[in-house]
Amino acid sequence: MTWHSGRQAGGKTILVTGANAGIGYFAAEQLAANGATVVLGCRDTAKGDLAVRAIRARVPGARLRCVRLDLADLPSLPATVDALGAESLNAVVLNAGVLLSGPDRRVSAQGHELMFATNHLGHFALVAHLAPILAATANSRVITVGSFAARSERLDLTDLQSEHDYRPKRSYGRSKLAQMLFGFELDRRLRTHAAGTASIVVHPGGALDSLTLSRPPVFVRTTAQRLRRLPASVVLHGKHAAAEAIARAVLDTEITGGQLWGPRFFGLRGQPHREAPHTHMTDLDTAAGLWAASTALTGVDPLVRPTMMRPASTPQCPESS
Ligand SMILES: NC(=O)c1ccc[n+]([C@@H]2O[C@H](COP(=O)([O-])OP(=O)(O)OC[C@H]3O[C@@H](n4cnc5c(N)ncnc54)[C@H](OP(=O)(O)O)[C@@H]3O)[C@@H](O)[C@H]2O)c1
Repeated sequence: MTWHSGRQAGGKTILVTGANAGIGYFAAEQLAANGATVVLGCRDTAKGDLAVRAIRARVPGARLRCVRLDLADLPSLPATVDALGAESLNAVVLNAGVLLSGPDRRVSAQGHELMFATNHLGHFALVAHLAPILAATANSRVITVGSFAARSERLDLTDLQSEHDYRPKRSYGRSKLAQMLFGFELDRRLRTHAAGTASIVVHPGGALDSLTLSRPPVFVRTTAQRLRRLPASVVLHGKHAAAEAIARAVLDTEITGGQLWGPRFFGLRGQPHREAPHTHMTDLDTAAGLWAASTALTGVDPLVRPTMMRPASTPQCPESS
């Protein structure tokens, strides 16, 4: 048996982006419960510190560290990777994400549309900076967290950053599609290079805070919230359940590169199972165009050693040890 809930990740080090909240928090908790050393990548180290404490309260002896990570600030990423201080990394979970609903287009410090910048470009660049460590680790994995929102979207390679027609929901869906296209393309390119790293894509289905287990002080669900959203649990699930696809993609030795995993029931809730990706998520021309554009926008390529300047050191959470 290659997958079970148990301490099967001893000795593994796994970086989870956006691990201070939501699905990322639960992925970190589940991986720690399986014996992994988990590095929580968080843009606010105080929130990361609370998450470390919450996991330690539930998983005695959990091995946790926290590094500051701001995906929307590309020049900061090399310092984040330096702060990992790791010579090996068994997996990185590209989980952090931002979904904006306001009508005004917002941009990152580098002037990139903020959802595309955070969800796709930041993770693309992070993988590039992590590449030497991943390559030095046998059977390492890159786990990309996509979304069902990508099913109905198509990328416009001439307007990747929604400069001409910004609609927040569409830009979010396109940013998640970009991540999934990248995840599948990364695996194809890794295979071409006969690399030992696998790239796997997951999606969490529909996960509501109101269906999510409390984890004080990180997250507390009120009884009123729970009761109000009870009918939604027929089709959706909580973030603790959504995280299971991630933990499984990291740990199940039968899962191989290029696969897509998501929840069993209508792709929205339930136990993780393998899915066939929609054809537009694996389109070779779109993926190649996106890769070229992402390299141009970030200045790095996950399969070419990074050359960006390294800024000053990045702080770690006080709770990390
Ligand atoms: N929930 C769903 O139903 C659903 C469905 C499909 C896909 N997804 C995907 O699943 C992932 C997790 O979703 P979620 O619902 O758990 O979201 P969430 O509760 O809003 O948590 C998002 C996490 O991302 C972090 N983050 C945001 N911007 C960042 C940045 N610039 N640098 C580093 N970290 C940043 C947040 O940090 P702060 O706390 O500092 O903001 C937080 O830790 C996302 O990729 C999302 O697109 C979710």
